[in-house]
Amino acid sequence: MKPVLVLLVSTAWTFTGAQYYYQGLMDYLENRLLAIEDRMQFWHGQLHRYHTELQDFKKVTAQAMDGLKNGHSMLFKDLEGARLRVDRVEREMDYVETQTSPRACANKADKVLEQGAWGKKTGRSYCIEIISGIRSVKILKRVGSPKGMWTRDPRSSKVYVFNGTTGDKVYQFNSVPDFSSSPGVSGSRQIKLPSDWSGLGSAVYNGYLYYIKQEAGMEVQVVKYDLLSGSVSDTAMFPVDSHAAVYNLNPETVADLAADDEGLWLLYATSDSEPNINLAKMDPATLDIEQIWDTRCPRENAEVAFVVCGTVYVVYNTRLTSRSRVECVFDVNDMVISEEAPLLYFPRRYGAHASLKYNPEEKQLYGWDDGYQIIYRLTMKRKLLV
Ligand SMILES: *[C@@H]1O[C@H](CO)[C@@H](O)[C@H](O)[C@H]1NC(C)=O
Repeated sequence: MKPVLVLLVSTAWTFTGAQYYYQGLMDYLENRLLAIEDRMQFWHGQLHRYHTELQDFKKVTAQAMDGLKNGHSMLFKDLEGARLRVDRVEREMDYVETQTSPRACANKADKVLEQGAWGKKTGRSYCIEIISGIRSVKILKRVGSPKGMWTRDPRSSKVYVFNGTTGDKVYQFNSVPDFSSSPGVSGSRQIKLPSDWSGLGSAVYNGYLYYIKQEAGMEVQVVKYDLLSGSVSDTAMFPVDSHAAVYNLNPETVADLAADDEGLWLLYATSDSEPNINLAKMDPATLDIEQIWDTRCPRENAEVAFVVCGTVYVVYNTRLTSRSRVECVFDVNDMVISEEAPLLYFPRRYGAHASLKYNPEEKQLYGWDDGYQIIYRLTMKRKLLV
């Protein structure tokens, strides 16, 4: 009997012990589950919030994108509008230009008073052009010595050829085609002057030949010779007592003359020590000197120069001849600013220019290069400050 009781007691005890144990385990698990559920609830909430926030963010970015797109298309429209306006302004400017500049020289009576030297010429035409480039070159012929000069009277179209660097002879041809088609100087009229021309600075305008007379022991003179009557109509003393060459690379030319409607221009050097080229404006009728300027263009390495519309263009080169180029420009009216003055390069040729004569009617230069007679056609543009 005794062992059975012990077993029962011990079983009961064991049972009770196990019951407590399971109960505890259940409680623990239940608590854990509750806690997990809580956390799940919490994360669910968080997730929901993130989701909404993400959606809001998406909405905001989409709106921003729309805004940007609109802004872009508006900008595009503005640009298009601006382009159209620029086009229109350009067309209007073209129109205004064609209305105001059909000719090289415009009549500007209202500007006459403040124009100094040109002011006396009331009602005369004013030249407002600047060279923009060399359009073409034409080699016409080869006649005479390496150095010489040829030019065409813009008024009569007759051509005058000065062979060498001094002499009392001038060959006259009726036209440029006459000159280029005849062999040598045959077919020309030979003019014999009462004194020698000296250097390559002669000019012919409206039936008059202007040349430099430089005889030993005498002062330099400017002579005006009437080609029709064959007589000297006037002479004038040089503005300074100087025999210095105006262009360092052409030492035979003491002074250079250029004639046109605006007047007679004289390029010269005041003395051997004076480094710059000087300019004088003369009355072509009386040879009176009206005004004098220092062009500030150096004589050193200067080859030739010419005058177009009151602007002096000085052509430079090197002793070992390379390409001639306009490197200094001087405008008597200060209307050509240095920025718009062109750096003009002449096409590569045979030697160097002995002379270059501008013809205002044709807007071309008559050049003499190593005995070749060359014509350079120029392109022009309006001076900016007019
Ligand atoms: C040009 O001058 C040179 C000498 O300077 C002479 O030999 C030549 O015959 C002259 N030519 C003409 C066409 O006058």
